[in-house]
Amino acid sequence: MERMNNEDIKKADAEVWDWINKEQIREQETINLIASENFASLPVLAAQGSVLTNKYAEGYSFARYYGGCQFIDRIEKIAIERTKELFNCEHANVQPHSGSQANMSVYFAYLKVGDTILGMDLRAGGHLTHGSPVSFSGKFYKAYSYGVDPKNEMIDFNIVEDLAKKYRPKLIVCGYSAYSRQVDFKAFSEIASKVGAYLLADIAHIAGFVAAGLHPSPHPFTDFTTTTTHKTLRGPRGGIVMCRKKFAKKIDSTVFPGIQGGPLMHVIAAKAIALKLASTNEFKDYQKKVLSNAKLMASLLEKLGYRIVSRGTDTHIVLVDLQPQGINGKEAEEILKKVNICVNKNTIPFDPLPANLTSGIRLGTPSVTTQGMGEKEIGLIVSFIHSALTNRSDDKKLASIREEVKNLCRQFPPY
Ligand SMILES: Cc1ncc(COP(=O)(O)O)c(C=O)c1O
Repeated sequence: MERMNNEDIKKADAEVWDWINKEQIREQETINLIASENFASLPVLAAQGSVLTNKYAEGYSFARYYGGCQFIDRIEKIAIERTKELFNCEHANVQPHSGSQANMSVYFAYLKVGDTILGMDLRAGGHLTHGSPVSFSGKFYKAYSYGVDPKNEMIDFNIVEDLAKKYRPKLIVCGYSAYSRQVDFKAFSEIASKVGAYLLADIAHIAGFVAAGLHPSPHPFTDFTTTTTHKTLRGPRGGIVMCRKKFAKKIDSTVFPGIQGGPLMHVIAAKAIALKLASTNEFKDYQKKVLSNAKLMASLLEKLGYRIVSRGTDTHIVLVDLQPQGINGKEAEEILKKVNICVNKNTIPFDPLPANLTSGIRLGTPSVTTQGMGEKEIGLIVSFIHSALTNRSDDKKLASIREEVKNLCRQFPPY
C-alpha cells in the first residue's frame, strides 16, 4: 500500500504505525462482507490525507467565519453541485460528519422534543437513529416503529399506514441498515401526506444504487434525504443531507452552528471526488456487479440450505437466518473470523435472540466487488462460508480454509 506515507508515520510513532500496519494486513488478507463498508478509492484516501485537514472553515462557501477559505469555498461548492446533480435534489448540505449527524440535523431542524416519529424497528432492519431507545432519536422523541410482514418479510404498507394513522407522527423515516429489498418511496410519501408527516429517506446503504439508477430515487417523493458517503458510494466516512429548497435554510443552520462546528474540509474534498467518480459509467458497471454478486450469493447459499430473509435481495445485502443450521449469529461471526471472513451478526425479523447473539448474519458485496471479484469468486466465498460453518469444530480444516481465503485475497488486492 504505497499511497500512505508509511515512513513518516513509522518515524513519528512506531506504536501507532504498528497497529495501522496490522490493520492494513488484516484488510488485505480478509474477505470483507460487512455490508456497510467498502474500500475507498485511492484519490478519496489521498484527499483525506491532504493539507485541507489544516483548515478551519466554519460557515458555508463565501460566508465563512475564518479567513483563507477562498479555495476551500470552491471545493465545498463543487461537492454540493455534484450531490444535487447525481441525486437530482433541490438542496444539499455536505458538512455532516456522519450519517447519524445528517439524520440528527433533520430531527433537530423540524421536530420539537417529544414529537412523534415512525421508523423501522432496529431489530427488523432499521438504524439506531430511526427511533431506537438507546439513540437520541428514541430519547428525545416519541418513537413508534413498523416492522415487516411475517409472511414475506417485506414492508407491508397497510400496516405502515395503520400505524401512521394511529400515532400521527410528525416525521416518517424510511431507508434501512439491514433490509435488503427496494424501498417504495412513493408509497411512503402517500402515507406521509395522508397524515401530514414529513418524510425522511435515509439512503445510507443504497446511495450507490440510487446514483447508478439501479434503485428508484427518493426524489421527488421525500422532504429530506440523508446518506452516508462511505458505503456503496465508496467515498470517505461522512454524511450528506438533501432536502427541498424550502427547507434549505433551516437544515443548513441546524448542521452549522446547530450541531457541528467546523466542517472537515479534507473529507468534503473526498466526498466531491467520490461523487464525481459515482457519476461515471464505470461506477454504474461496478454497482451492477455489486448487485449481481449479492443475488448470486443469496441463491448459492439458499441452494446449500441457508434461509435467506425475504427469500432474496434487491441490493448489496444478504441477510441469512442461521436457525436451520443450529448456530447463532455471534457464533457464526466468530467461526468465520477464524477463516479470515469478516461478517456481522445481525438480528433477523422476529428474532427470538437478543442483539448481542442474534439468529442471523448480514453479508454484503460492495468490498469484494471493488476488489474485482465476480461470479467465480462469489462461488468460492460461499463454499468457504459453508465449509467453515459445517466444520466449525475442526481446527485443522478451519486453518486450511483460512489459507485458501488468503490465497484468494492475494489475487485481488484492494489497492
Ligand atoms: C441506514 C443508516 N443510516 C445511518 C447510518 C449512520 O451512519 P454513521 O455510522 O456514519 O453515523 C447507518 C450506518 O450504518 C445506516 O445504516
